[in-house]
This record gives sequence, structure tokens and C-alpha cells, in this order.
Amino acid sequence: MLPNVLQRSGTDSHIPVLAGEVRELLAVQPGETVVDATFGAGGHARLLAAELGGNGKLIAIDRDPGAKAQFDRFKASAGVDVRFLRGDFSVVLTQLAANDVRADAILFDLGVSSMQIDRPERGFSYATDAPLDMRMDPSSEPSAREIVNTWDERELASIFRRYGEERYAGPIARAIVKRREAAPMTRTGELVDTIKLAIPTPARFGEGHPAKRVFQALRIAVNDELGSLETALPAALAMLRQGGRLGVISFHSLEDRIVKRFFAERAKGCTCPPELPICVCGKEPELRVVTRKPVRPSSREIDENPRASSARLRVAVKV
Ligand SMILES: C[S@@+](CC[C@H](N)C(=O)[O-])C[C@H]1O[C@@H](n2cnc3c(N)ncnc32)[C@H](O)[C@@H]1O
Repeated sequence: MLPNVLQRSGTDSHIPVLAGEVRELLAVQPGETVVDATFGAGGHARLLAAELGGNGKLIAIDRDPGAKAQFDRFKASAGVDVRFLRGDFSVVLTQLAANDVRADAILFDLGVSSMQIDRPERGFSYATDAPLDMRMDPSSEPSAREIVNTWDERELASIFRRYGEERYAGPIARAIVKRREAAPMTRTGELVDTIKLAIPTPARFGEGHPAKRVFQALRIAVNDELGSLETALPAALAMLRQGGRLGVISFHSLEDRIVKRFFAERAKGCTCPPELPICVCGKEPELRVVTRKPVRPSSREIDENPRASSARLRVAVKV
């Protein structure tokens, strides 16, 4: 039986990804300080706040100004001391760590929220024609429109290949550059049409939407998602108290690889060459990895929420 906070109710049907697993592995205790670095609609924050049992503190971070309205609703019923900090988690966590703010558990649930995808005007979706934007923080630069219209063919092909693993990265980049010669591209629909025309006909009917990989690549580049994560993980570790738990839910292999590598590096002790009789580097492990393999959603969860299908949770404890 799911605890109350995870059950669907008439007013709030948002059950966050890997809810039970997050609850169990982050093992939040009353009186602790918890950071939800990706507040979104507050699904995970709600369950973490419930674990605090009326005694503790929750710091919520999100770079999307729209998350503040969600936070205000959450705050009214949180039952614990809560605070919202708007900004990129890499910046906010670095500032918190520098100001000696300490936490017992920190969670990242990476990527975009359903709220962002389901609002066509944000330009994240290839399914509806909308302005080419894709910024989680609408005041940041660049937007997808700027990238699509100003980056050269080589740079475009490179992000489509690296961030989208797009097979037809070269032809798509070439088609974009050709199309924008006539007039700048401003709509997601124009980009989708250009992609479809640039790839071989059978590929238009292959696995998934033909624009899916290019849209993922643009979103990652627009929001510098990998760069933020690389900077945020050491800051989160610095903020954690001894015994503190760090959990990261990622949705594609590029993110997961960064988390896996970071955990492995920080879990390593002495790095001296084996021929040395004693350790001279003095390096101690900083983390103990709790999840040897990433935790995946159950088939039941995927049936209920297909967007959870690619989620992977890794958790480590500060030692
Ligand atoms: C998948 S959603 C989180 C959903 C949330 N866990 C829930 O249960 O409602 C990811 C959220 O993280 C935010 N986000 C992504 N990258 C961020 C970053 N670098 N800094 C701050 N917020 C970020 C997005 O704006 C989005 O609201």
C-alpha cells in the first residue's frame, strides 16, 4: 500500500517518478534538512516533506519561474519549514555550500517536467507547432531559435550527434542551414518539417518520432543540461553532512554516465600505483555507492506513466 502522500487524490494526481524507491533509498528522517534540486510540480518534494514528519526543513530549487506557483501551493500544506530558491541548481548549490548550508539528503530529478512539455508555448514538444524556445528559464540565453538560426552547420551536426545520437545529424544540419537562408526559422513545426525532408523516407516511419532526437539535443544545448549537472554534483556533495544521501534520477545515458562516473570517482580511495608499498596520495573515499546498478521503474509504473520508462535512479551516501 502506498503511503498517503503517494496515493492519487482528486486534486493532485501527480505521482513522481520512482516515488517508492526515492523514499526508501533517501531514507529521510524527521528533523533533517532536505534539498529538492529540481522542484518542478513538487511531487518528490511532497513525499520528502511527508518523511520529515512535521519536523525539518526542505529547500526547493528550480530554474523555471513557473515552479514558484507550484511551490506556493505546496508550501501551504508542507507542514515543515520550506524555502524556494529560483535558479540553476549548479549555481544555487554552489552558493549554499559556500555559505555553509548543510543537507542530509539531496535529490535531482533531471530533465523537463510534464508541465513544461505539456505547455506548447514553451516549445519543448515536437508534437505541436509552437515558438522555437525550449528554455527552462525564459530569461536565459540562447533559445532554440537562436541556436537553429545562428550556429553553423558543423556545430549543429555535432550537438545532434552528441546529445541526440542522431544518425542523420549531418543531412539535418545541412537542411536547416539551407532552409534558414530564405528566412529565419521561428516555429517548431518548421523544424519538424525540415527534419522529415532531410532524412530518408523509411527513417520517417522508424522507431519514435523522426524529430525526437534533434529536439532532445537542442533542449540539452539550450539549457546546458550536462554542464549544469557536472558542476552541481560536487557542490551537492560539499553540502551533504556525513551520512547524507545523494539521489539522481536521469532520463538518458549522457546524464546517467556523468552521475555514474562521479559516484565511482568519489567512491574510490587511494589512487597510488600498486607498486608503492604505502599510500602517499592520502585520498579517502568520499561516497559509498548504494545502487551498484541504476534502479529502474517497475513495469507497473511504466504502464501507469510511460514517461517514466527511461528513468534511472542512482544513490550514494557521503562517508
Ligand atoms: C523532471 S522535472 C522535476 C519534477 C519533480 N521532481 C516533481 O515531482 O514534480 C525537472 C525540473 O527540474 C528543473 N531543472 C532542470 N534542470 C535544472 C537546473 N539546471 N537547475 C534548476 N532546475 C532545473 C526543470 O525546470 C523542471 O521543473
